[in-house]
Amino acid sequence: SAARCISNAGSTRPSPLAFAFDIDGVLLRGTKVLPEAKRALASLDGANALGVKIPYILMTNGGGVGEDERSARLTKQLGVPITPANLIQAHTILKSHAHEYADKNVLVLGGRRDVLRKVAEGYGFRNVYTTLDVKSWNPNVWPFYDLTPSEVASIKPADFSTTPIAAIFVFHDPRNWALDIQIMSDVILSRGLIGAPYTSPDDSVKVVFCNPDLVWRGGFERSRLGQGAFREAFQAVFTALTGKPYPHVQYGKPTTATYDFARGVLQQRIGEAYGEPAARQANFYMVGDNPESDIAGANAAGWSSVLVHTGVYDPASGPPAHAPTHEAPDVEAAVRWAVEREA
Ligand code: G3P
Ligand code: MG
Repeated sequence: SAARCISNAGSTRPSPLAFAFDIDGVLLRGTKVLPEAKRALASLDGANALGVKIPYILMTNGGGVGEDERSARLTKQLGVPITPANLIQAHTILKSHAHEYADKNVLVLGGRRDVLRKVAEGYGFRNVYTTLDVKSWNPNVWPFYDLTPSEVASIKPADFSTTPIAAIFVFHDPRNWALDIQIMSDVILSRGLIGAPYTSPDDSVKVVFCNPDLVWRGGFERSRLGQGAFREAFQAVFTALTGKPYPHVQYGKPTTATYDFARGVLQQRIGEAYGEPAARQANFYMVGDNPESDIAGANAAGWSSVLVHTGVYDPASGPPAHAPTHEAPDVEAAVRWAVEREA
């Protein structure tokens, strides 16, 4: 379990702080691991100014795969043991909501749909469909795309004229915005039965987005459009169709729901290593590259925030939209500053 990452070996004094690290633009840039990230995380094992193991979690607006698969990949990339218990992805929070839909049909969007269906089922959603299943049911639903042979192989057949969709969950960044916006609009305007006559939309179909990032920092030199841009595109089309945007639930950094969820995970990790009092007394530090998500959310949650210059935020563009507790060139300098501040 995560306790192995932060066992008490070699230290009895509890750590006075704990970290939440953003991933894209802080630890990774696309598939590239930032060298300072490996050194920073390794130092939390005890080789730091406090001489104690410092608890941490990774907290990303990314996703699209299960926490077990992503944490195994991150362990290889970062050279330190990352477990599902200390990884929060954009959609991890949905684990606590899946039971509400156990007997309902849900549509999930984002990433590779065959993988995503397994992630959603792993969370407890039982009747999980993707926009490719809808396209396979009636190719005319969106005539400008043909399923690939591997997509055909992963289809879950259904007749969507008799399979009412109760909710739409955008887990990760959609791959075919046009197909997905068309089918989201059909589901909402036909109140769940695709192809049925459009009615004036009530909010009977719940829509949940898991990542509000308008942009994020991948492997390209400029920031890339994120799931927040997809949400803007959907709402612009839906407003053009109906005169107003559709009400939706938003999770992901900087939302309070996600930071409350992360606080609980961090306190559990600290409690495992140092006991309950330490879990309540530790100071939380968020290290991120995006002022709109990492810094805004941490500030609102009452955590300390450190903005690094290796991702979305460019110091040459002027002061950040949300002022961090501290700015640092990279994650290693951020960790050193926070640890020395608490020493
Ligand atoms: O899709 C991932 C992106 O939106 C941001 O990821 O790790 O910077 O929160 P991260
Ligand atoms: Mg980031």
